[in-house]
Amino acid sequence: MIEERHNFSLKAMNTFGMDVSCGVFIEYDNEEDLLNIDFNALVKPVFHIGGGSNVLFSGDFPGTVLHSAIKFLRTLPENAEPEGDTVLVAAGAGVKMDSICGWAAENGLWGIENLSLIPGEIGAAAVQNIGAYGSEISQAIHSVRCYDTVECRFLTLRPEDCGYGYRDSFFKHCGGRYIITEVVLALTKSFSPQLGYGNVRQTAEAMLAPGEVLTPLKIREAVISIRNGKLPDPADVGSAGSFFKNPVIDGAAFSELKAEHGDFPHYDLPDGNVKIPAGWLVEQCGWKGRTIGNAGVYPKQALVLTNATGKASPEEIIALKDLIIKSVSDRFGISLVPEVEIV
Ligand code: EPU
Repeated sequence: MIEERHNFSLKAMNTFGMDVSCGVFIEYDNEEDLLNIDFNALVKPVFHIGGGSNVLFSGDFPGTVLHSAIKFLRTLPENAEPEGDTVLVAAGAGVKMDSICGWAAENGLWGIENLSLIPGEIGAAAVQNIGAYGSEISQAIHSVRCYDTVECRFLTLRPEDCGYGYRDSFFKHCGGRYIITEVVLALTKSFSPQLGYGNVRQTAEAMLAPGEVLTPLKIREAVISIRNGKLPDPADVGSAGSFFKNPVIDGAAFSELKAEHGDFPHYDLPDGNVKIPAGWLVEQCGWKGRTIGNAGVYPKQALVLTNATGKASPEEIIALKDLIIKSVSDRFGISLVPEVEIV
């Protein structure tokens, strides 16, 4: 079923809580609906939203906002692609990512437990290649079904065809041509915890009773407790999670920075480049916990910009973002790039 609204408020549809509206809002709840939408006739520009947890509206959106309410979750017959302990799970694009993480953990399936509590819906998660604590969703994707709005047909892509990178995919660079309708995850019953990032191992093991072994559910609980300690719940404080990407610099630039600033947290990449935590850069520039007007930098994680009072305007968040980018550039010579999509 297609539902169409005009001058629709998006306030409840973006986790930053920006009080903005769109010209037309169209929600659909099955694939066939897409065949009935004339994409050439839509009021432009067109933006497809998911859970609105990685987007900052810069003002009222004059065009059409599309949203998928395709919400099924089912395991595919075990013989769909038999690979030992693999279980294929298909989810409609509109299913909340964390409800899938919870379901998988409850059913003892490994693969997405480290992605627990990330807000948003799985369709957008597969566009954005969400990641946390050493896992990225692309590692668990078996295939993605999408609708080509130009040729009006559905196609199925394997992850190697999706151009996945750090918080990146081909879908982010196709001008909205392809709309994800379904994501199939390949989860596994085989014991395969991902414990290499930060304090995941320590937190999870501390939660075990004597003799108890790690399960996807235990890791999920550990990740939830780590996230709750650092990141704001969008229900309490508006934000879009990490506002900036962690920048990557080359080895020579890293050596220069180290000579000037002493050692600091970083991740060596296989290609010799170095990823620098943007949160550290922002904190070093004195932004952690500061507010300017109604916009703030979260006191427990400097990478997160917030709608600190609940009344921030898009202009206030954008002005704060610009000030932070300038100060990090002045001090470190590194240009931070937003991870959040500014629309
Ligand atoms: N750090 C600081 N100050 C801060 C925040 C971080 O110095 O205020 C330093 C710390 O030294 C810390 C390091 O940065 O050891 C890394 O911090 P953290 O482990 O919290 O991760 P992050 O790099 O800040 C990334 C993702 C998060 C994801 C976490 C955990 C990006 C842009 N962000 O943050 O993703 O949850 O790792 O895997 O890659 C998101 O995308 O919205 C998001 C929250």
